[in-house]
This record gives sequence, structure tokens and C-alpha cells, in this order.
Amino acid sequence: MSGIFVTKRKISPIENGRIRLRLIEESDLPMTLAWRSQDRIRKWFLHSEIVSSEQHEEWFSQYSQRDDDYLFIIEEIRDLKKPVGQISIYKIDWEGKRAEFGRLMIGEKEARGKGIAREATGLILNFAFENLGLDEVELVVKKDNKPAVTIYRDFGFNEIHESSGLKKMVKVKN
Ligand SMILES: CC(C)(COP(=O)(O)OP(=O)(O)OC[C@H]1O[C@@H](n2cnc3c(N)ncnc32)[C@H](O)[C@@H]1OP(=O)(O)O)[C@@H](O)C(=O)NCCC(=O)NCCS
Repeated sequence: MSGIFVTKRKISPIENGRIRLRLIEESDLPMTLAWRSQDRIRKWFLHSEIVSSEQHEEWFSQYSQRDDDYLFIIEEIRDLKKPVGQISIYKIDWEGKRAEFGRLMIGEKEARGKGIAREATGLILNFAFENLGLDEVELVVKKDNKPAVTIYRDFGFNEIHESSGLKKMVKVKN
């Protein structure tokens, strides 16, 4: 079963010694909104408009009632020892064993370009295929987003479609 008004399953933190992914909590909302509001981040999102705190809280309220949407805070636990970004697996079709990957950002400037997004992507994909039992993960990325496209290609996402400056990419379970 999937959709709205169902119990969200509990997911324990996923970690690798340097990165911990843990589910977003309500107290994280001001931080994630501040990250998302930066022009250098927002411009790469498909929905790049400014979001108000009321809209952000409303999003979280809906999110909390779904079992097909999981957003993780990325914590760097080795050097910086703090939350630095977020990553998500959502639109999970439990029966079709498919989902979308996205909402990736490294919001803390000092954490960018250090391989954290790459490690977080590896962790969440492994979790999606091995723990959630998915067979296929899809994403949409702006074609000029070189750091993101580089990471996605390296993890085996293949481009299946491109139009209006967007690439649709798919990765199937190895
Ligand atoms: C995309 C994003 C999460 C990547 O974060 P990051 O901390 O720079 O990522 P990493 O350090 O893990 O890896 C970036 C990779 O892209 C590569 N890269 C960076 N700039 C590049 C460029 N201009 N051309 C090609 N590759 C590039 C880096 O070399 C690195 O690869 P490497 O590990 O082989 O060196 C970050 O730039 C961000 O938050 N962007 C704004 C939001 C966004 O674009 N989200 C994705 C929406 S689909």
C-alpha cells in the first residue's frame, strides 16, 4: 500500500563512518529551508521558486503522512560533525518496485566538493535496492548540472530522455 494518510515506516539511520543519513524531523525545517533558499541551490531544482516557511511546514505535514516519500538529512560525522545537506527517495511505487531519487543538496558551503553528495548517493541507492527492495530508480536533472550529472552517471544512471533542458535518467538494480 502506498499514498497519503498511512503510517510512515521508521527507518534507522544509514551510515558509513563518514556520512549518516537520518530521516528529517520537524525541527530540521528552518535549516533545510535556509539551504533550499540559496540561489546557487534553488536554481538547480525543477521547482526553483522561493518557498515560504508556511509552505515548507505544510509540505512537511503532508510528507509525514505518506509512506512513499523519505527525505534524509545528510550528516557529516567524521570531520564537520554536523548536518550538511539532504537527499531523498520518493514517489515510491511499492508494487511496481520503482521510485524517484532527488531533492539532493549540500547546503553547507564548507561541505561542498568533498565527495559527500557522492557518498550519500551511494548509501541511499544501496538502501533503495537492498532494503526497500526496489528494482528501478529514476531521476530528472537539469542537463547543465555537471556535478550532479557526473555523480549520477558514475552510479550507473543511464539517460533515457532529454528535452527542455532536462535529462531523465534511470538506474536498474545490478
Ligand atoms: C549537486 C551537489 C549536491 C553536489 O555536491 P558536491 O558536494 O559538490 O558533490 P561531490 O563533492 O560529492 O561530487 C561532485 C562531483 O562532481 C564533479 N564536478 C564538479 N564540478 C564539475 C563540472 N563542472 N564538470 C564535471 N564534473 C564536476 C566533482 O569533481 C565531483 O566528482 P569527483 O568526486 O569525481 O571529483 C551540490 O553541487 C549542490 O548542492 N548543488 C545544488 C543542488 C543540486 O544541484 N542538486 C541536484 C539536483 S538534481
